[in-house]
Amino acid sequence: MAKNAEKDKLLQEELKKSGEIPKHVAIIMDGNGRWAKSKGYNRVFGHKEGVNSARDIVEACVELGGVKYLTLYTFSTENWRRPKAEVSVLMKLLIKAIRDETERLHKNGVRLIASGNLETLPEKVLQELHDCMDYTKDNKRLTLNLALSYSGRWDIINAVKNIAKDYKDGKISQDEINDDLFSDYLVTKSIPDPDLMIRTGGDYRISNFLLWQLAYSEIYIDTIYWPDFKRGSFYKAIAEYQKRERRFGLVSEQLQKK
Ligand code: IPE
Ligand code: IPE
Ligand code: MG
Repeated sequence: MAKNAEKDKLLQEELKKSGEIPKHVAIIMDGNGRWAKSKGYNRVFGHKEGVNSARDIVEACVELGGVKYLTLYTFSTENWRRPKAEVSVLMKLLIKAIRDETERLHKNGVRLIASGNLETLPEKVLQELHDCMDYTKDNKRLTLNLALSYSGRWDIINAVKNIAKDYKDGKISQDEINDDLFSDYLVTKSIPDPDLMIRTGGDYRISNFLLWQLAYSEIYIDTIYWPDFKRGSFYKAIAEYQKRERRFGLVSEQLQKK
């Protein structure tokens, strides 16, 4: 076994023993452009290398076990406003990445799903996505959720519109509207809220990610740019998560009694 692989195995064993593994990890994969620039390349190179990080983190989850959902913020609603050429490269890269990774995802027992305003994606991206989602739909080890053309505010507005429609049609009453019902109208309805949210690239903001769903997620910011964020960094984030006390508004003593 190569030295790095040996180190990773040890880390995995330690994490399994030392505490709870977050069931849902959500990641803002940021810093591709800055990574490329720091090496004298153009931004596209950073996006390409970013795909390798995504593959590595997916496999880190599969090998570790316990992480059942991984949401990757892949393209935001606001990212449509980037220069046309960059958007076009990102869409092409997405098509290629999904195509190239499908078999590997399947072999690893990964199910692919996508969340966002998917209608706005180019036809070819949608086609590739649907092919992969269909092919991997019965896999159970990990659900990989790509947040695509996604923004938290879009998600909430979309939910409100659908709730209003169902109210008007008499399908729900005003009294029934609560946290659980609202969650069921969001695009993440079939998956639990993230336990851990990681942002790479060092910025301390949410950038319109899962606004509702992150209510009680632990937040971990890494200064490392996404193309350099590989499984060692990911396991470090989980180790940090295990040290946190999630109080959900209670006091420490109440948690210890449980
Ligand atoms: C994240 O990297 C990828 C996407 C938002 C699609 P960026 O492209 O935002 O890279 P920086 O933040 O400019 O370095
Ligand atoms: C967030 O990164 C979106 C994705 C990672 C897809 P951005 O680079 O778009 O966020 P800002 O502009 O720094 O807030
Ligand atoms: Mg960025």
